[in-house]
Amino acid sequence: MRVLVVGSGGREHALCWTLARSASVDEVIAAPGNPGIESVGRCVSIDPKDPAAVAQLADDLDANLVLGGSEESLVRGLVDAVQARGRHAFGPTAQAAHLEGSKAWMKEVVAEAGVPTARHATFTAADQDAALQFLTTLDGLYVVKTDGLAGGKGVVVTESLDEARDAVRAYLSGSAFGDAGRTLVIEEGMRGPELSLLVVCNGDVDGAAPLAPAQDFKRIGDGDVGPNTGGMGAYSPVPIVGDGVVEQVMVEAVRPTLRALAARGIEYRGILYAGLMLTAVGPKLVEYNVRFGDPECQVVVPRLTTDLGELCLASASGKPLPEVRCSTDAWVTVVLASESYPASPRTGDPIEGLDAAEALPSVVLFHAGTARDDRGRLVTAGGRVLNVTASAPTLGEARDRAYGAAALINWPGMQFRHDIAAEAAGVSA
Ligand code: AMP
Ligand code: GLY
Repeated sequence: MRVLVVGSGGREHALCWTLARSASVDEVIAAPGNPGIESVGRCVSIDPKDPAAVAQLADDLDANLVLGGSEESLVRGLVDAVQARGRHAFGPTAQAAHLEGSKAWMKEVVAEAGVPTARHATFTAADQDAALQFLTTLDGLYVVKTDGLAGGKGVVVTESLDEARDAVRAYLSGSAFGDAGRTLVIEEGMRGPELSLLVVCNGDVDGAAPLAPAQDFKRIGDGDVGPNTGGMGAYSPVPIVGDGVVEQVMVEAVRPTLRALAARGIEYRGILYAGLMLTAVGPKLVEYNVRFGDPECQVVVPRLTTDLGELCLASASGKPLPEVRCSTDAWVTVVLASESYPASPRTGDPIEGLDAAEALPSVVLFHAGTARDDRGRLVTAGGRVLNVTASAPTLGEARDRAYGAAALINWPGMQFRHDIAAEAAGVSA
């Protein structure tokens, strides 16, 4: 089959790379793709956030399956637009994508479903005093989130009540995130390791199948300090998460949520990404995302031994999913980011050392924010630039390989975390 992958990040590169190895897939086309994807598929220039343009392209290419899409394009109706042309698109409809598009709505659905999550309340500009008052009822760790999409940057987690208050004022006034922040969710801070569980859904509550668990590193700095980012690295498997925890999350969170959606007449297809915190009293839901995690996808999807094309097509067409299997190998990805990411990433710096890094055994470089300049050189073109990804029989070896490759790559101001998967591998960073 011919698969059209929508997007241009490291996640889309990992999807294209895995699809190119799928027996069911004859051709991979990415829109708009990136210079790394060009080595596994064709790239077509397009605005990935324009559902009508994507649907038209799928028609022009006669694509059998459209896959991917950021939360923004899904919320804008990417899947609906493709389906309206009688084609298969992997992912939730705009209505179902609301689970990520509005945190307030998501909280309403999970409360109805009885999913364990943080104590929280939703406020709008008219309730600023009540919002500030609610903060004082929390226990020392304050979380303030935009209701709407904010490119992964709309969450403040802080021990400072003053900082939380400032965030509330900035969000509600619209000065921080425009309309996305004029409604906000305040919740109690939870503590514990985080877990990302990506679940493939086919519209049938009992048909949902979890992929291998992964752990993401959200903060910019080693030891989880500094501002939140889109994710600075990930690994899979997660030694502290056995099959029991995965089943517990399916029973306590995922299936009840799918049931609550079904009760509202919403059939969920595509990836349901449950972001969880493993608290002292068990796993609690932090958030739902409606697409593959980035960079979790880069360590979860390549581990699949089930054909990715078949899996996504079954999900998109509402058919029973093939059994989800994955290799026993461990995968680690380290994000190389540009100077001043996440605040104001500098771009246009020439990247050196890619060929040497890529020549190392079991190393794959997924491109996240790269471009070619007018001289054909590869340059930085975003905050997260490259995902240096490696596999090995153990997490420790995979991590050594990834960091060995990262050490060969360079550009002015390049930054990365040194502690990705360190604790899980039992080593110090
Ligand atoms: P979200 O946009 O909801 O995914 O939140 C982004 C990140 O903020 C999460 O991955 C967590 O690291 C952190 N976070 C969100 N909610 C909480 C919470 N209630 N307690 C602690 N950390 C949180
Ligand atoms: N890595 C977190 C996300 O994709 O939202």
